[in-house]
Amino acid sequence: MESRGLFITVEGGEGVGKTTNMRFLEDCLRAAGVDLVVTREPGGTALGEQIREVMLQPREELVAPEAELLLVFAARAQHLSEVILPALDAGHWVLCDRFTDATYAYQGGGRQLPVPLVRELEQLVQGDLRPDYTILLDAPVAIGLSRAGDRGNLDRIENEQVAFFERVRATYLQLARESSGRYRVVDAAQSLPEVEAQLAKICQELAGCWQARRP
Ligand code: TMP
Repeated sequence: MESRGLFITVEGGEGVGKTTNMRFLEDCLRAAGVDLVVTREPGGTALGEQIREVMLQPREELVAPEAELLLVFAARAQHLSEVILPALDAGHWVLCDRFTDATYAYQGGGRQLPVPLVRELEQLVQGDLRPDYTILLDAPVAIGLSRAGDRGNLDRIENEQVAFFERVRATYLQLARESSGRYRVVDAAQSLPEVEAQLAKICQELAGCWQARRP
Protein backbone atom coordinates (compact mmCIF):
# COMPACT_ATOMS: atom_id res chain seq x y z
CA MET A 1 0.00 0.00 0.00
CA GLU A 2 1.27 3.47 -0.86
CA SER A 3 0.91 6.18 1.74
CA ARG A 4 1.90 9.16 -0.39
CA GLY A 5 -1.00 10.86 -2.17
CA LEU A 6 -1.48 11.03 -5.92
CA PHE A 7 -0.56 14.27 -7.67
CA ILE A 8 -3.07 15.05 -10.43
CA THR A 9 -2.76 18.07 -12.71
CA VAL A 10 -5.15 19.61 -15.20
CA GLU A 11 -3.73 21.45 -18.20
CA GLY A 12 -4.91 23.15 -21.38
CA GLY A 13 -4.82 26.32 -23.44
CA GLU A 14 -7.04 29.36 -23.02
CA GLY A 15 -10.81 28.92 -23.15
CA VAL A 16 -10.85 25.13 -22.89
CA GLY A 17 -13.27 25.26 -19.93
CA LYS A 18 -10.70 24.48 -17.26
CA THR A 19 -12.62 26.13 -14.41
CA THR A 20 -15.92 24.37 -15.12
CA ASN A 21 -14.21 21.06 -15.77
CA MET A 22 -12.02 21.31 -12.67
CA ARG A 23 -15.18 21.75 -10.61
CA PHE A 24 -16.77 18.72 -12.28
CA LEU A 25 -13.67 16.60 -11.56
CA GLU A 26 -13.48 17.80 -7.98
CA ASP A 27 -17.15 16.95 -7.31
CA CYS A 28 -16.76 13.60 -9.00
CA LEU A 29 -13.64 12.63 -7.03
CA ARG A 30 -15.08 13.81 -3.71
CA ALA A 31 -18.27 11.84 -4.42
CA ALA A 32 -16.04 8.76 -4.88
CA GLY A 33 -14.62 9.39 -1.39
CA VAL A 34 -11.23 10.72 -2.48
CA ASP A 35 -9.56 12.86 0.17
CA LEU A 36 -8.67 15.81 -2.02
CA VAL A 37 -6.79 19.11 -1.85
CA VAL A 38 -7.66 21.38 -4.78
CA THR A 39 -5.31 24.16 -5.75
CA ARG A 40 -3.99 26.13 -8.72
CA GLU A 41 -0.93 27.67 -10.37
CA PRO A 42 0.27 30.29 -10.45
CA GLY A 43 -1.22 30.69 -6.98
CA GLY A 44 -2.36 28.37 -4.23
CA THR A 45 -0.63 30.37 -1.46
CA ALA A 46 -0.84 34.04 -0.41
CA LEU A 47 2.56 34.71 -2.00
CA GLY A 48 1.68 32.71 -5.10
CA GLU A 49 -1.60 34.56 -5.61
CA GLN A 50 0.30 37.87 -5.44
CA ILE A 51 2.80 36.60 -7.99
CA ARG A 52 -0.14 35.54 -10.18
CA GLU A 53 -1.53 39.07 -10.10
CA VAL A 54 1.84 40.57 -10.99
CA MET A 55 2.28 38.08 -13.81
CA LEU A 56 -1.15 38.33 -15.43
CA GLN A 57 -1.79 42.06 -15.08
CA PRO A 58 -1.70 43.78 -18.49
CA ARG A 59 1.20 46.27 -18.49
CA GLU A 60 2.92 48.80 -20.72
CA GLU A 61 6.43 47.35 -20.60
CA LEU A 62 7.37 44.13 -22.31
CA VAL A 63 7.95 41.45 -19.67
CA ALA A 64 11.20 39.57 -20.30
CA PRO A 65 10.39 35.87 -20.90
CA GLU A 66 13.05 34.94 -18.32
CA ALA A 67 11.33 37.17 -15.73
CA GLU A 68 8.02 35.41 -16.45
CA LEU A 69 9.73 32.03 -16.13
CA LEU A 70 11.23 32.91 -12.76
CA LEU A 71 7.92 34.29 -11.50
CA VAL A 72 6.09 31.01 -12.19
CA PHE A 73 8.85 29.00 -10.54
CA ALA A 74 8.97 31.36 -7.54
CA ALA A 75 5.23 30.84 -7.04
CA ARG A 76 5.71 27.08 -7.53
CA ALA A 77 8.50 26.80 -4.95
CA GLN A 78 6.23 28.36 -2.32
CA HIS A 79 3.26 26.28 -3.43
CA LEU A 80 5.25 23.06 -3.15
CA SER A 81 6.64 23.78 0.29
CA GLU A 82 3.46 25.24 1.77
CA VAL A 83 0.69 23.17 0.15
CA ILE A 84 1.53 20.39 -2.29
CA LEU A 85 4.27 18.43 -0.52
CA PRO A 86 2.66 18.52 2.95
CA ALA A 87 -0.65 17.36 1.43
CA LEU A 88 0.92 14.50 -0.53
CA ASP A 89 3.03 13.46 2.46
CA ALA A 90 -0.12 13.33 4.60
CA GLY A 91 -1.68 10.96 2.05
CA HIS A 92 -4.13 13.43 0.52
CA TRP A 93 -4.55 13.59 -3.22
CA VAL A 94 -3.78 16.92 -4.85
CA LEU A 95 -5.77 18.18 -7.83
CA CYS A 96 -3.85 21.12 -9.27
CA ASP A 97 -5.10 23.49 -11.95
CA ARG A 98 -1.88 23.73 -14.03
CA PHE A 99 1.68 22.87 -13.04
CA THR A 100 5.09 22.68 -14.74
CA ASP A 101 3.73 21.33 -18.03
CA ALA A 102 2.17 24.79 -18.36
CA THR A 103 5.69 26.22 -18.09
CA TYR A 104 6.91 23.92 -20.87
CA ALA A 105 3.88 24.91 -22.97
CA TYR A 106 3.75 28.69 -22.29
CA GLN A 107 7.34 29.72 -21.53
CA GLY A 108 9.02 26.93 -23.52
CA GLY A 109 6.56 26.68 -26.43
CA GLY A 110 4.82 30.06 -26.39
CA ARG A 111 7.81 32.26 -25.44
CA GLN A 112 10.32 29.91 -27.08
CA LEU A 113 12.67 29.81 -24.10
CA PRO A 114 15.17 26.93 -24.23
CA VAL A 115 13.66 23.73 -22.87
CA PRO A 116 16.86 22.82 -20.92
CA LEU A 117 16.42 26.07 -18.95
CA VAL A 118 12.90 25.04 -17.91
CA ARG A 119 14.17 21.56 -17.10
CA GLU A 120 16.96 22.95 -14.92
CA LEU A 121 14.55 25.09 -12.87
CA GLU A 122 12.11 22.17 -12.64
CA GLN A 123 14.85 20.04 -11.10
CA LEU A 124 15.97 22.83 -8.78
CA VAL A 125 12.48 23.62 -7.48
CA GLN A 126 10.85 20.20 -7.55
CA GLY A 127 13.63 17.67 -7.18
CA ASP A 128 12.12 14.40 -8.36
CA LEU A 129 8.50 15.38 -7.88
CA ARG A 130 6.44 15.11 -11.08
CA PRO A 131 2.66 14.78 -11.54
CA ASP A 132 1.40 11.19 -11.42
CA TYR A 133 -1.53 11.86 -13.67
CA THR A 134 -2.30 14.74 -16.06
CA ILE A 135 -5.55 15.59 -17.77
CA LEU A 136 -5.12 17.74 -20.88
CA LEU A 137 -8.20 19.64 -22.03
CA ASP A 138 -7.48 20.13 -25.70
CA ALA A 139 -9.32 22.30 -28.22
CA PRO A 140 -8.35 24.07 -31.44
CA VAL A 141 -6.92 27.51 -30.67
CA ALA A 142 -9.65 29.39 -32.58
CA ILE A 143 -12.37 27.77 -30.45
CA GLY A 144 -10.54 28.42 -27.16
CA LEU A 145 -9.76 32.04 -27.99
CA SER A 146 -13.31 32.83 -29.03
CA ARG A 147 -14.59 31.34 -25.74
CA ALA A 148 -11.98 33.29 -23.73
CA GLY A 149 -12.86 36.45 -25.69
CA ASP A 150 -16.55 36.02 -24.81
CA ARG A 151 -15.58 36.30 -21.14
CA GLY A 152 -14.08 39.77 -21.83
CA ASN A 153 -11.29 41.43 -19.79
CA LEU A 154 -8.34 39.54 -21.23
CA ASP A 155 -5.25 39.23 -19.02
CA ARG A 156 -1.65 39.81 -20.18
CA ILE A 157 -1.20 36.29 -21.52
CA GLU A 158 -4.68 35.96 -23.04
CA ASN A 159 -3.77 39.04 -25.10
CA GLU A 160 -1.00 37.14 -26.93
CA GLN A 161 -1.03 36.39 -30.66
CA VAL A 162 -2.67 33.30 -32.18
CA ALA A 163 0.77 31.91 -33.16
CA PHE A 164 1.76 31.94 -29.46
CA PHE A 165 -1.27 29.80 -28.56
CA GLU A 166 -0.65 27.46 -31.48
CA ARG A 167 2.83 26.81 -30.04
CA VAL A 168 1.33 26.32 -26.57
CA ARG A 169 -1.14 23.75 -27.90
CA ALA A 170 1.48 21.95 -29.99
CA THR A 171 3.78 21.69 -26.95
CA TYR A 172 1.00 20.26 -24.78
CA LEU A 173 0.14 17.67 -27.42
CA GLN A 174 3.81 16.77 -27.75
CA LEU A 175 4.12 16.34 -23.96
CA ALA A 176 1.01 14.13 -24.02
CA ARG A 177 2.62 11.95 -26.71
CA GLU A 178 5.96 11.77 -24.88
CA SER A 179 4.36 10.97 -21.50
CA SER A 180 1.36 8.98 -22.69
CA GLY A 181 1.42 6.87 -19.50
CA ARG A 182 0.41 9.74 -17.26
CA TYR A 183 -1.57 11.83 -19.78
CA ARG A 184 -5.27 11.60 -20.60
CA VAL A 185 -6.28 13.90 -23.45
CA VAL A 186 -9.87 15.15 -23.37
CA ASP A 187 -11.44 16.64 -26.49
CA ALA A 188 -12.65 19.93 -25.02
CA ALA A 189 -14.08 21.17 -28.33
CA GLN A 190 -17.08 18.91 -27.77
CA SER A 191 -20.28 19.95 -26.01
CA LEU A 192 -20.22 20.21 -22.22
CA PRO A 193 -22.15 16.91 -21.67
CA GLU A 194 -19.72 15.13 -23.98
CA VAL A 195 -16.70 16.59 -22.18
CA GLU A 196 -18.23 15.62 -18.83
CA ALA A 197 -18.76 12.06 -20.09
CA GLN A 198 -15.02 11.86 -20.90
CA LEU A 199 -14.14 13.29 -17.48
CA ALA A 200 -16.51 10.87 -15.71
CA LYS A 201 -14.56 7.96 -17.23
CA ILE A 202 -11.29 9.45 -16.00
CA CYS A 203 -12.83 9.97 -12.58
CA GLN A 204 -13.91 6.32 -12.50
CA GLU A 205 -10.36 5.23 -13.30
CA LEU A 206 -9.01 7.46 -10.53
CA ALA A 207 -11.63 6.33 -8.02
CA GLY A 208 -10.57 2.73 -8.71
CA CYS A 209 -6.99 3.75 -8.01
CA TRP A 210 -8.03 5.43 -4.74
CA GLN A 211 -9.80 2.23 -3.60
CA ALA A 212 -6.81 0.09 -4.54
CA ARG A 213 -4.39 2.28 -2.58
CA ARG A 214 -6.44 2.40 0.61
CA PRO A 215 -4.80 0.64 3.54
P1 TMP B 1 -5.51 30.29 -15.75
O1 TMP B 1 -5.27 29.63 -14.44
O2 TMP B 1 -6.74 31.11 -15.77
O3 TMP B 1 -5.42 29.37 -16.91
O4 TMP B 1 -4.37 31.40 -15.95
C1 TMP B 1 -3.06 31.14 -15.72
C2 TMP B 1 -2.25 31.74 -16.84
O5 TMP B 1 -0.88 31.62 -16.49
C3 TMP B 1 -2.45 31.05 -18.18
O6 TMP B 1 -2.46 32.01 -19.20
C4 TMP B 1 -1.21 30.21 -18.32
C5 TMP B 1 -0.17 30.98 -17.54
N1 TMP B 1 0.88 30.13 -16.97
C6 TMP B 1 2.14 30.18 -17.54
O7 TMP B 1 2.37 30.94 -18.49
N2 TMP B 1 3.12 29.38 -17.03
C7 TMP B 1 2.90 28.53 -15.98
O8 TMP B 1 3.82 27.81 -15.54
C8 TMP B 1 1.59 28.50 -15.39
C9 TMP B 1 1.32 27.58 -14.24
C10 TMP B 1 0.62 29.31 -15.94
